[in-house]
Amino acid sequence: MNFLLRVLSLTLSLACLVSPTWGRPAFKKCDYRARNFNTISSIYNLTVYPNQVPIIFGGAGNVPDGLFSHSVAGRVYPVGNFKGFEDSIEYFFALAPLPQGNIKSAAITSYKITSFTSGCRNVAASVVYLYSSVVDPASPDFGKPLAPLKQVAFWRFDGQGAVVKYDAWIPSLDRWIELIDGTPSTDPTYEMQTIQRVCATAQLTCSGPNQQWGSVEECVADLSQRKYGSYSNAWGDNIVCRTIHLVLTQARPDHHCPHVGPTGGGKCVDVPYPEDFLSDEDLYGDLVGETFTC
Ligand SMILES: *[C@@H]1O[C@H](CO)[C@@H](O)[C@H](O)[C@H]1NC(C)=O
Repeated sequence: MNFLLRVLSLTLSLACLVSPTWGRPAFKKCDYRARNFNTISSIYNLTVYPNQVPIIFGGAGNVPDGLFSHSVAGRVYPVGNFKGFEDSIEYFFALAPLPQGNIKSAAITSYKITSFTSGCRNVAASVVYLYSSVVDPASPDFGKPLAPLKQVAFWRFDGQGAVVKYDAWIPSLDRWIELIDGTPSTDPTYEMQTIQRVCATAQLTCSGPNQQWGSVEECVADLSQRKYGSYSNAWGDNIVCRTIHLVLTQARPDHHCPHVGPTGGGKCVDVPYPEDFLSDEDLYGDLVGETFTC
């Protein structure tokens, strides 16, 4: 896939350079709308199972070159703000479910960019539907379509067409998770099962210097005292926040284990609204309103 993408981007950059009016800047003749669409489309293609697996298990280094700038920063509401290449990329794809991580064995199986506009070289806006279905061949529902996940996003690109800043929103994330998990997230039995799953996995992936609790029992006792949280507000010292960060403990345990642990590692901590949620100047380094404006 890497190779194909490289050939594709080479073809695109050649198309940009082949211009009868030599001497003018190459980008003037470059179809930036197509270039930006191609970047966004390739990014969403990496949420389609199993394309995200190497990123979740091996980290951001498995993202093909040219999609994200090395200084990328952004927000995926309601999950969090992410600064730097590794954090940004790992969290962007951590939300693409692994079938073994949910009750219905669901994953994203296709996508469609339903809205797209790019009024200038550096900025685009898009809406994508990420279609999910049951992917476990052993399940009686194998192949059955589930609900799509919607993401609305504004993007800023660098001179090469890689994403350098993004502001994305997933409406009704909690409703969608309920659907692929097959249980209302307010069910006490389900909440206890989730805590047990978080603790069992955390004790496995966070070992040695990354260990967070003395035992699974200690973890369960600790987490049972905390708020459960919800996917419509996953920023906080709660269980839902820890389920998202848990996915990434396999990629970089030293970095991600503290987020799951007792302190929340600066990620699963309570932050007063609207601190972080609207901190555009700090996140993007621009005056508010300038980042995604043509
Ligand atoms: C999506 O990824 C798959 C698997 O790597 C690849 O075969 C396919 O060509 C890609 N499609 C697009 C539209 O990028």
